[in-house]
Amino acid sequence: MEEERLITSTKGLSEAEMENSLRPVVLTEYVGQEKIKKSLNVYIEAAKKRGEALDHVLLYGPPGLGKTTLSHIIASELGVQIKVTSGPAIEHAADLASILTNLGKNDVLFIDEIHRLNRAVEEILYPAMEDFALDFIVGKGPSARSMRLKIQPFTLIGATTRAGMLTSPLRDRFGILARLEMYSSEELNKIVQRSAGILGVSIDDKASLEIASRSRGTPRIANRLLKRIRDFAEVKGSGVITLDITKDALNIMEIDELGLDFVDRRVLESIIDKFNGGPVGLDTLAASTGEEASTIEDVYEPYLLQLGFIARTPRGRVAMPNAYKHLGKDLSDKKAKELKQYESITEV
Ligand SMILES: Nc1ncnc2c1ncn2[C@@H]1O[C@H](COP(=O)(O)OP(=O)(O)OP(=O)(O)O)[C@@H](O)[C@H]1O
Ligand SMILES: [Mg+2]
Repeated sequence: MEEERLITSTKGLSEAEMENSLRPVVLTEYVGQEKIKKSLNVYIEAAKKRGEALDHVLLYGPPGLGKTTLSHIIASELGVQIKVTSGPAIEHAADLASILTNLGKNDVLFIDEIHRLNRAVEEILYPAMEDFALDFIVGKGPSARSMRLKIQPFTLIGATTRAGMLTSPLRDRFGILARLEMYSSEELNKIVQRSAGILGVSIDDKASLEIASRSRGTPRIANRLLKRIRDFAEVKGSGVITLDITKDALNIMEIDELGLDFVDRRVLESIIDKFNGGPVGLDTLAASTGEEASTIEDVYEPYLLQLGFIARTPRGRVAMPNAYKHLGKDLSDKKAKELKQYESITEV
């Protein structure tokens, strides 16, 4: 089932290949995120001029917005090597120590899912980030003493979908914090057209805009939809992606005008029908929809929050009036009044 879904955080092997081929490699090709690009440009130029390592960078935001892509671009703009690893992949402190000692001067170390580093590993990072040094304890008991080993200056780029799960000592050691925003339809339109060009498929302007507007603000989803719709165009049409083919394909995939799929609808319907509109706790909601709590939180909620379809309250999730409207559900006056208090809440 999972691999049939268009809106997931995981990717299959062939998709990983596709992502690599569609990944922009220079900053000017990276669409959108203008604020981040502007400041990064300055920091990168300044670091290069001084011949120093760029300050450590934390990139955070929902899956598929371009954190990994941007990390590679930063390294290539700096003209340095990038070493890629991830929080769960580094099991022992010694593994990280060996990675760090093998980095070249001013290189980038990219740690994906950095919120999943274990404690012992994380502690190695503190002196490494701050002083470019590794601290060891040598010997045991009263004769134990600590030793410091210098390493080359480097830039740590951490990526996470959950900045809130980072410990504060770790978060405080990043000089540059960048929160990736969801993309506008115009930006996604550019991405779809660029990807179509790379894939060598013709697409009508209206069709690419349609895909863009149903991609939940997320480049990965835009590229995924494009690829699926290309299949429809090849099998059912002449190979050109037209607006008609796009609409038919999206209907068959059960993706609605806003980009919501059956899981989004099930989540919303569950809050509205089973829990009287909420508040309902995340775990209860997960159990009632058959989804993992973390999937709902990382993959589905960011866009539903962005649309103002749900609010996160201290007592759980509530469905907001726009969600009732979109699904064609009745909203009683009493409930509408009750929901007023949540209007200003998007996150807790
Ligand atoms: N700004 C952008 N311009 C053009 N294409 C982009 C941009 N951002 C992302 N993409 C495309 O979307 C795909 C997914 O991006 P990426 O893998 O960098 O996301 P991510 O934020 O690292 O996701 P995750 O949290 O799942 O690791 C990339 O292969 C790339 O083709
Ligand atoms: Mg990534």
